[in-house]
Amino acid sequence: MKNINLTIYRPDDWHVHLREGELLNAVINSTARFNGRCIAMPNLENPITTTKNCLDYKNNILKKVKVSYFEPLIPCYLTDNIDINDFKNGIKNNIFFGAKLYPVNATTNSKKGVTAIDKIFPSLEVLSTYNKPLLIHGEKIGKNINIFDREKYFIDDELKKIISFFPNLKIVLEHVSTKYGADFVNQTKNLAATITPHHMILTKKDVFNDEINCHNYCMPVVKEQKDLRSLREYACSGNESFFIGTDSAPHQIIYKQNDGNLKPGIFSAPCSLELYAQIFDEENSLQNLERFSSLNGPKFYGMTHNKDKITLIKKEWKLEEFTTYKDIKIKNFYSDKYLKWQILN
Ligand code: DOR
Ligand code: ZN
Repeated sequence: MKNINLTIYRPDDWHVHLREGELLNAVINSTARFNGRCIAMPNLENPITTTKNCLDYKNNILKKVKVSYFEPLIPCYLTDNIDINDFKNGIKNNIFFGAKLYPVNATTNSKKGVTAIDKIFPSLEVLSTYNKPLLIHGEKIGKNINIFDREKYFIDDELKKIISFFPNLKIVLEHVSTKYGADFVNQTKNLAATITPHHMILTKKDVFNDEINCHNYCMPVVKEQKDLRSLREYACSGNESFFIGTDSAPHQIIYKQNDGNLKPGIFSAPCSLELYAQIFDEENSLQNLERFSSLNGPKFYGMTHNKDKITLIKKEWKLEEFTTYKDIKIKNFYSDKYLKWQILN
């Protein structure tokens, strides 16, 4: 039988956690092995809130990368009391790649996140003026909001408010996880979304069953079949408002399995593009993979797409169960199943 190949412009990863220190060493090449650019999320233990931190972090990442085509882009982590002059300088001079809004306590390292949307209006004004993007972790946390409804509440109570005050601001609803959210993105000008592989593979029964499966636990949590279907349909349609963003978020297994303190995050970088190819193949939409992985993101961000190409081949393989480095051990997503696609080197 003839092998099926697919050649596409080099992709980018518009949402990934590269971490720092030895963890950065352990994971960086899983992302740099084929991506041209990535947005490296700023939710480090000491979040990236200043131009100095941002430049240092970028240098740290680049020091570890073995390939020449890879560029990390880093958004500023917004807080209630950011130094607005430093922020403006970072935005104007392209030190920050826009800014990231984490609602306080929404996810990993978000305790310095934003407590009320109007506290960041001065920063949003700067972004809007310089036509730079706002990236959003779109979940509203509240005593009376159940974990599956957080995205809807964020859209209705916060996102609509941001859009009404800043209609020209370019916004990305990161890791959209619901049909409600994806439909809203589809209908709204200047708003796009990234979609992870895991939100197109898992549903809540894969996390919450007799026991909680901590390896499938992430934020936003995966939802219902109807949500998974909707995300697959938008991604696979080639719709320009949706693009790649793995949200690959490694945690060491010793912390991940610590019951009292569930760490959200799925480490998919070692097989992310391979999984997207598999999903597009299952949906008979391989012809649209390149738009999703390599064209829609740069277009939304006003950048050119990468000029070189990579080739995928349809061939089964299995990933190692763990990524290891020195005494670090991280569980690889999808390592218990056969992957259907490979990247040709
Ligand atoms: O699952 C997640 N993990 N979602 C996030 O928003 C953050 C991430 C992390 O940094 O661990
Ligand atoms: Zn993330």
